[in-house]
Amino acid sequence: MCGIVGYTGPRQCVGTLLDGLSKLEYRGYDSAGIAIHDDGDIAIRKSEGKLARLVELVAREPVSGTCGVGHTRWATHGRPSDENAHPHRSGGVAVVHNGIIENHQSLKKRLCGMGRTFCSETDTEVIAHLLDEHAAAGLSLAEAARRTVAELRGSYAFLAISLKEPGTLVGARLNCPMVVGIGDGETFLASDLPPLLSHTREAIFLEDGEMVVASPDGVEVTDFSGAPRRRSPQHIDWSPVMAEKGGYRHFMLKEIHEQPRAILDTLAGRMLPESGEVFFETLPMPDERLRRLKKVLIVACGTSWHAGLIGKFMIEGLARLPVEVDLGSEYRYRDPVVEEGTLCVPISQSGETADTLAGLREARKKGAVAISICNVVSSTIARESDGVIYTHAGPEIGVASTKAFTTQLVALYLLGLHLAAARGTRTMEEAAAHLQDLSELPRKIEEVLKNEAAIAAIARKYKDARDFLYLGRGVSYPIALEGALKLKEISYIHAEGYPAGEMKHGPIALIDERMPVLVLCAKGDSYEKTLSNLEEARTRGGRVIAVGTAGDRTLADKAEDVVFLPPCGSYTRPILEVVPLQLLAYHMAVLKGTDVDQPRNLAKSVTVE
Ligand code: G6P
Repeated sequence: MCGIVGYTGPRQCVGTLLDGLSKLEYRGYDSAGIAIHDDGDIAIRKSEGKLARLVELVAREPVSGTCGVGHTRWATHGRPSDENAHPHRSGGVAVVHNGIIENHQSLKKRLCGMGRTFCSETDTEVIAHLLDEHAAAGLSLAEAARRTVAELRGSYAFLAISLKEPGTLVGARLNCPMVVGIGDGETFLASDLPPLLSHTREAIFLEDGEMVVASPDGVEVTDFSGAPRRRSPQHIDWSPVMAEKGGYRHFMLKEIHEQPRAILDTLAGRMLPESGEVFFETLPMPDERLRRLKKVLIVACGTSWHAGLIGKFMIEGLARLPVEVDLGSEYRYRDPVVEEGTLCVPISQSGETADTLAGLREARKKGAVAISICNVVSSTIARESDGVIYTHAGPEIGVASTKAFTTQLVALYLLGLHLAAARGTRTMEEAAAHLQDLSELPRKIEEVLKNEAAIAAIARKYKDARDFLYLGRGVSYPIALEGALKLKEISYIHAEGYPAGEMKHGPIALIDERMPVLVLCAKGDSYEKTLSNLEEARTRGGRVIAVGTAGDRTLADKAEDVVFLPPCGSYTRPILEVVPLQLLAYHMAVLKGTDVDQPRNLAKSVTVE
């Protein structure tokens, strides 16, 4: 996701800012920019595309100064473009921002009513206008920032500079990281450690609800009300590569742990839990049109296809619309029948997968209207769809998909609720209960992640197995497929996912003491039946690893190893269930010594048939 850097001190800082941005490139971005106090003005250079384009622009139109901010943007609100690139300026203030301002639309309306004009499609620009509004009323930049944060809802880390206060940088953090690097008479700010490490190893990690004011006189940390916070710098001895991975050994592990945050970002600004309403600002489709739909067709590949299989349960269950799920590579070649009233939902992390794209084109050619679910903004699939629901997972670098998958499930759940509301198939109370379950999900995933050491121990126990069987029923069957796929992809152990009820029609012949069987057996509709299937595997000598609901003593007695999940609703269950399976595959792969982030023969984005 977006990266931010800032500097104030004695040196000419253009090079420092550009170098800092280059250290954040690994996060993924689509545009970049800087703003610098330059000879009585604030000079801004920004450009869509890679950093090299910004570097060229700065070479053509040089700037100089000793205090400034920089940004790499990973688009969420508004397509990648020069206008939408940060920094954003309003009057005498320039700002860079990471995160999502949930109430930006209502703020924008108010600011427009006050005669302010907006130059971008971003949520960030409201911060610049609010800061300028307060600064124009005579407040210092720090005081203006305090007033501004009181009006913002959502997640943010932002840095601002003001024409009236050369040499001063003000930053604030809520739910997005910001680090302050303390140098000798100079201060470095960034959304992550890599830009700081070549300058200083002394850092203060701002906490949520904290602000920083940095100037050549020093650094002051306060809370949002202005009360000072005593924060001593920590000494950092990370290597730069470790820092890019946030201290995790692999991107995949980092991305597994990022899931609570990614889900929060995917939910942000899209639901009103009290009334059960769901909104999508990038879905230009009136309820009237949604009511006329007769069928949903989901097209996807790989992990995204598994998300689609679960989406079928969600959309059919909530909106009572029949859902067909197809693999992109199959759909495109079978001359499919597309009935009138078909909504095509391509699902793709990258938005570039060739087979999914071909499926989308085929369905649209035959008259379907398309709403895609993509992670990468302005990707081809997003652009070629009639509407798009973005997952805000942030860049996913590990080839094996993790946080993209769980955010796809969240997006499908929201889509199901949105269709249900338009079609009148759910009461407000029912919808509110679903949204409540969704809003508790990030915290519950945090709880599951706390079991990592126990899951690593299970991996050590079974690491020499040559084959694995994963079983699940209903919404958990696609999770069995996904768990088996994760294991195959990164540990190269053969694994099969199977519907638990089908085991007796074949795979049961394979079961013996050398075949671990992982059973998804959390409390829910088909709990008793899955428990019977678990019993069938156990009586044939299978070594059973179960994933169940906390407090289930029966399951603990029957399985050799068990991982517990917090109780949850039926559509958030698969989202919780997949987390231990991701960790199991990860730890198996680490024990096997494979290249976890770039497994052999696999590619992150498959743009060929
Ligand atoms: C590749 C990746 C998978 C991914 C699939 C679909 O095979 O290795 O992790 O699930 O493509 O990718 P998409 O970007 O369309 O979700």
